[in-house]
Amino acid sequence: MLVSATEMLKKAVEGHYAVGQFNINNLEWTKSILATAQELNSPVILGVSEGAGKYMTGFKTVAAMVEAMIEEMKITVPVALHLDHGSYDGCYKCIKAGFSSIMFDGSHYPIEENVEKTRELVKVAHAMGLSIEAEVGSIGGEEDGVVGMGECADPDECKMIADLGVDFLAAGIGNIHGKYPENWQGLSFETLAAVKEKIGDLPLVLHGGTGIPADMIKKAIDLGVAKINVNTECQLSFAAATREYIEAGKDQQGKGFDPRKLLAPGAEAIKATVKEKMELFGSVGKA
Ligand code: 13P
Repeated sequence: MLVSATEMLKKAVEGHYAVGQFNINNLEWTKSILATAQELNSPVILGVSEGAGKYMTGFKTVAAMVEAMIEEMKITVPVALHLDHGSYDGCYKCIKAGFSSIMFDGSHYPIEENVEKTRELVKVAHAMGLSIEAEVGSIGGEEDGVVGMGECADPDECKMIADLGVDFLAAGIGNIHGKYPENWQGLSFETLAAVKEKIGDLPLVLHGGTGIPADMIKKAIDLGVAKINVNTECQLSFAAATREYIEAGKDQQGKGFDPRKLLAPGAEAIKATVKEKMELFGSVGKA
């Protein structure tokens, strides 16, 4: 059964670890992430961007697939199905489709508009039993058409959004979607500490989890980060393993072209990446 992410993240704050949000793209992705969470007895959040939802033919398909997989794979760890960087309309679509959690990304609006839209969506999400994430200060880089400049969040604006009753908050602290550039300045722990000071025990979300060094991840968790989003890293490991299989000519040996064989190394590579992240985030055994 799908659950909202509220409870698992409250526990993460109390236990000083973080739960991973791993973005899904298709059946293989979802299967690999669920299997790893179950094997490691870890809670997990499946992230779906609007682009990925569209690719999978719509949010209804995604919700039905995830619900059915949880049942057929006998998954017993807590799983949240979460809209990633949702638009106002996208949030309503996911609520209707049966998601258990949404993110409203109003960071590109003036703060007053972000506050008003978030306020409305908090009410609707909570009335339907879903958890809701909001964002202040944009995440740098590009993810599925959502482009951010990567400015650090204003702690007072974070407080305004936190006071609306959101369940967890994404605050920009110099994090970037995709690979980090050579000249990246690192996370702004100063901003993170200032935000934490204003919002207390509300779980914080760290986007752009790909490529952040382990020591920075640990420090961010110490300072109140309880949810870490990973997308690109699973894509890179899937692509590398698939490339290796094809370059070794394995797709041309016997029935190596069978999609169940062709996609298997990539699916295993996703599992390895998810395992590595869950161990680093400290969520193993916390289901
Ligand atoms: P990465 O693609 O950099 O891992 O970021 C994922 C993310 O933040 C999803 O919202």
